[in-house]
Amino acid sequence: MCPSGAGNKVLLMLLLMFGQLLSAPRSFSVDYQNDCFRKDGEKFRYISGSIHYSRIPRIYWKDRLLKMYMAGLNAIQTYIPWNYHEESPDLYSFSGDKDVEYFLQLAQDIGLLVILRPGPYICAEWDMGGLPAWLLKKHSIVLRSADPDYIAAVDKWMGKLLPMIKPYLYQNGGPVISVQVENEYGSYFACDYNYLRHLTKLFRSHLGQEVVLFTTDGAGLNYLRCGSIQDLYATVDFGPSANVTAAFEAQRHTEPHGPLVNSEYYTGWLDHWGTPHSVVSSAAVVKSLSKMLAMGANVNLYMFIGGTNFGYWNGANEPYGSQPTSYDYDAPLTEAGDLTEKYFAIREVIKMYHKIPEGPIPPTTPKYAYGPVGMKKLQTISDALEKLSITGPVKSIYPQTFIELNQAFGYVLYRTTLPVNCSTPTLLSSPLNGVHDRAYVSVDGVHVGILERNKVITLNVTGKAGSQVDILVENMGRINYGKGINDFKGLVSNLTLGKDTLTGWTMYSLSTDEAVSQGLLGEEESTTTGPPQPTALALPAFYGGSFIIPDGIPDLPQDTYIKLPKWRKGQVWINGFNLGRYWPARGPQMTLFVPANILSTAAPNNVTVLELEQAPCSSGPCTVEFTDTPILNATVTSPHKQHWRLFTKENWL
Ligand SMILES: *[C@@H]1O[C@H](CO)[C@@H](O)[C@H](O)[C@H]1NC(C)=O
Ligand SMILES: *[C@@H]1O[C@H](CO)[C@@H](O)[C@H](O)[C@H]1NC(C)=O
Ligand SMILES: *[C@@H]1O[C@H](CO)[C@@H](O)[C@H](O)[C@H]1NC(C)=O
Ligand SMILES: *[C@@H]1O[C@H](CO)[C@@H](O)[C@H](O)[C@H]1NC(C)=O
Ligand SMILES: *[C@@H]1O[C@H](CO)[C@@H](O)[C@H](O)[C@H]1NC(C)=O
Ligand SMILES: *[C@@H]1O[C@H](CO)[C@@H](O)[C@H](O)[C@H]1NC(C)=O
Repeated sequence: MCPSGAGNKVLLMLLLMFGQLLSAPRSFSVDYQNDCFRKDGEKFRYISGSIHYSRIPRIYWKDRLLKMYMAGLNAIQTYIPWNYHEESPDLYSFSGDKDVEYFLQLAQDIGLLVILRPGPYICAEWDMGGLPAWLLKKHSIVLRSADPDYIAAVDKWMGKLLPMIKPYLYQNGGPVISVQVENEYGSYFACDYNYLRHLTKLFRSHLGQEVVLFTTDGAGLNYLRCGSIQDLYATVDFGPSANVTAAFEAQRHTEPHGPLVNSEYYTGWLDHWGTPHSVVSSAAVVKSLSKMLAMGANVNLYMFIGGTNFGYWNGANEPYGSQPTSYDYDAPLTEAGDLTEKYFAIREVIKMYHKIPEGPIPPTTPKYAYGPVGMKKLQTISDALEKLSITGPVKSIYPQTFIELNQAFGYVLYRTTLPVNCSTPTLLSSPLNGVHDRAYVSVDGVHVGILERNKVITLNVTGKAGSQVDILVENMGRINYGKGINDFKGLVSNLTLGKDTLTGWTMYSLSTDEAVSQGLLGEEESTTTGPPQPTALALPAFYGGSFIIPDGIPDLPQDTYIKLPKWRKGQVWINGFNLGRYWPARGPQMTLFVPANILSTAAPNNVTVLELEQAPCSSGPCTVEFTDTPILNATVTSPHKQHWRLFTKENWL
């Protein structure tokens, strides 16, 4: 029996009034009756944009967030990459560029709500979809499933992260209105409901019953089937080329009532090395945006600013193709935070539906062309091996992977000898396609060729028995989407020479970043030049140069872009900060974003380049160049047929 009567009603009214007097209630919830969100009791709709703090230097967070606010957004969406904060088990890092709490506080101070996506898996074109590579220490681990070892690691991480997030929930006075659980789980083969149920319980136990938890999946019933579960509000993602009505019908199939939500409305698209730069027209973006807003839907624009995959953080797709350093995404704010025509077009559309803030929009930051910088050859990898291999070599009969060698990123040198005389060209081969991902091969200090995952698995070598074979293997970024996320790096299967399996390996884990930032790499000594290189390519080697910020020009240092014309492929650091990979020999990215905060006016700025193939230095002076204009869309050149299907918007859904 329901208690009722006038006396009860009066009491209830008094209680409600008293409650309101005590404090303005902060609440955020799904209103299933009225198909909307409700914030502090009021009907609410968000227009949000994605920004990944892990792809933007901390000093620019405020500038980018302000620009987002001024575009008329009332919320932002961000991922928390687990592997960014726990690079080694139990070693947590939340300071400087990784200070996610400060990022949340800034968003709130500016007036933006936050839609938080803490994973544990995030995809995001980020190494291994945000999962730490050390999970692969258990070789057979089934990631993103109820595998007990995976769950134990997730529980521990979330036990650290979620209590830190809790004070930032909206109902606790913070900006976070909703929290996503996992990411596009319906696209993953495992379809493990026990895993999703476990995550739901875990998130609830740390964050409480009140917070809106949700999932995001492709806008198709086949995705929603494995991606959605009770107690997690199901949302969808789709871009400008999708049929908006049909896409939301898919969401309605799973959530017959509640707000319509597109959690990733694509403003552009991702790139891969060796495929043309993606662009999406503003006209296409604003057309569907306007349609969704007119329907009263909640929209998050993915990306609003893409930013940069500094260091080694880029991911890759299958069949193996890695993503470049720039994550510009053709988003409304460029990689460097510049306002674009797409930004203003989107702002005009938002203006039709919401009141947008008055006042000036922060201007595009100025860029400065510091010009050419002369580079000198330092040491080759082999010459610098003692400085690079802090832990010393590991020996084993068969090759070990990066993870077995306790290395996550960068490069490992695998060394062995030719077991037989190869007086005629003999095939060095990776029959199981186990070079992950690219190997620079030399025999007795002479470059003989490059092996590349999925593209080149054999090359000919000649040499005497006992000749030293050096194979520098580069990790080009772990697969971040699909079945292949258990992406082991290094030589992950045996190499053969003719019919024989190569054995007797000495492996050097290279601490390249430490050696660069500590300035350990010396100039080449004439005695260690080695034999002349008869081939077009040379041994992987370091190059160094420096430049001074000019005097008498106000507001320097400013942001800039580094361009490496005629260089081929490698990694570049400025003052020890790892800017990322360059690969102009393949494209489409030609310039790397250099944020002003890594430049110094107090001392010469040191540029270090690790060129893996061939620097333009053998024929005269060689330079890198600092320019004020980015180039992300050069025509791609690849010596290999793209016999793999491209990862495009069309086959995404
Ligand atoms: C979009 O989808 C709706 C619902 O499925 C359908 O009725 C309509 O014809 C579709 N529009 C186009 C242009 O295909
Ligand atoms: C390689 O050839 C040299 C002669 O050129 C010979 O002395 C040596 O025994 C051969 N080694 C092997 C392992 O066949
Ligand atoms: C290796 O050399 C043999 C004999 O010269 C040749 O037939 C073959 O095409 C070469 N293979 C590669 C991958 O270069
Ligand atoms: C290499 O081959 C040996 C012998 O067949 C095998 O035991 C070993 O597991 C292989 N190693 C790798 C990394 O595939
Ligand atoms: C560049 O290297 C030189 C020599 O090691 C050093 O004195 C200088 O401080 C470095 N510059 C910066 C900005 O760190
Ligand atoms: C690259 O983009 C610029 C600016 O939009 C354009 O002018 C240029 O033609 C593009 N280049 C290529 C090769 O597509």
